[in-house]
Amino acid sequence: MNNQKDSIAAFSAIKSSSTSPVIHCKGLRKQLATTTNTQLLILDNINLDIAQGESVAITGASGSGKTTLLGLLAGLDIPSDGEVKLLGKALSPLNEDQRANLRLGKVGFVFQSFHLMDNLTALENVMLPLELDSSSQTIRQRALEALKQVGLEKRSSHLPTQLSGGEQQRVALARAFVSQPAVLFADEPTGNLDRNTGEEIITLLFEMQQKNNTTLVMVTHDDSLAERCQTHYKLVDGEITT
Ligand SMILES: Nc1ncnc2c1ncn2[C@@H]1O[C@H](COP(=O)(O)OP(=O)(O)O)[C@@H](O)[C@H]1O
Ligand SMILES: [Mg+2]
Repeated sequence: MNNQKDSIAAFSAIKSSSTSPVIHCKGLRKQLATTTNTQLLILDNINLDIAQGESVAITGASGSGKTTLLGLLAGLDIPSDGEVKLLGKALSPLNEDQRANLRLGKVGFVFQSFHLMDNLTALENVMLPLELDSSSQTIRQRALEALKQVGLEKRSSHLPTQLSGGEQQRVALARAFVSQPAVLFADEPTGNLDRNTGEEIITLLFEMQQKNNTTLVMVTHDDSLAERCQTHYKLVDGEITT
């Protein structure tokens, strides 16, 4: 009897954890005061539910608010109105440090301009997220393994200036995935790369996303990139359409 009860409880727990969204936002609004004392409305009434392992693309023209939306969903920025829940936790009661702690080891980023530390080698860049999160001796090994996954184990001691754009973005991918994050936010990840190199990076990104069952939220102006995601939203006049 108890066994049956236990298995029902376990089943409900699995069911609820697999169905509750990893990212949820409701009534999200962002407006900014301009120098002329008028308000600029960037995002209005954005509602989204994104499930664990889902790949979501949000497209829109330049200036449509994509980067702003990504920043709000990741808790890097604060909305004017509305609520964001990241990994089941409401962001509005949290201060900046608490939001950073929530992201630690669970949320990765990939940006258009790579955002590597110029004075650190490829390996040291990949070790960074692990050093913040753990004190284990295996950090170096895990970082090397991540570099290997992006095909750069032989370039581990090179500085970003000694690497091509595509190679730098590979290092950024290794850094983003090294802690096996639940969520990856990508902002125009191929924006600074030529078409072929961009293709390689995207193939690698989806490979790693699927292997880790990572939830992917990617903003881009590139519709062909968006088609490779399970879900595609469009940002028009500050609002989301499908
Ligand atoms: N800090 C800021 N101050 C004033 N305007 C801003 C600021 N950040 C973004 N904007 C404006 O908000 C709009 C959306 O910007 P952004 O989210 O960067 O768009 P996208 O990433 O789609 O190109 C743009 O018109 C931009 O100029
Ligand atoms: Mg942008």
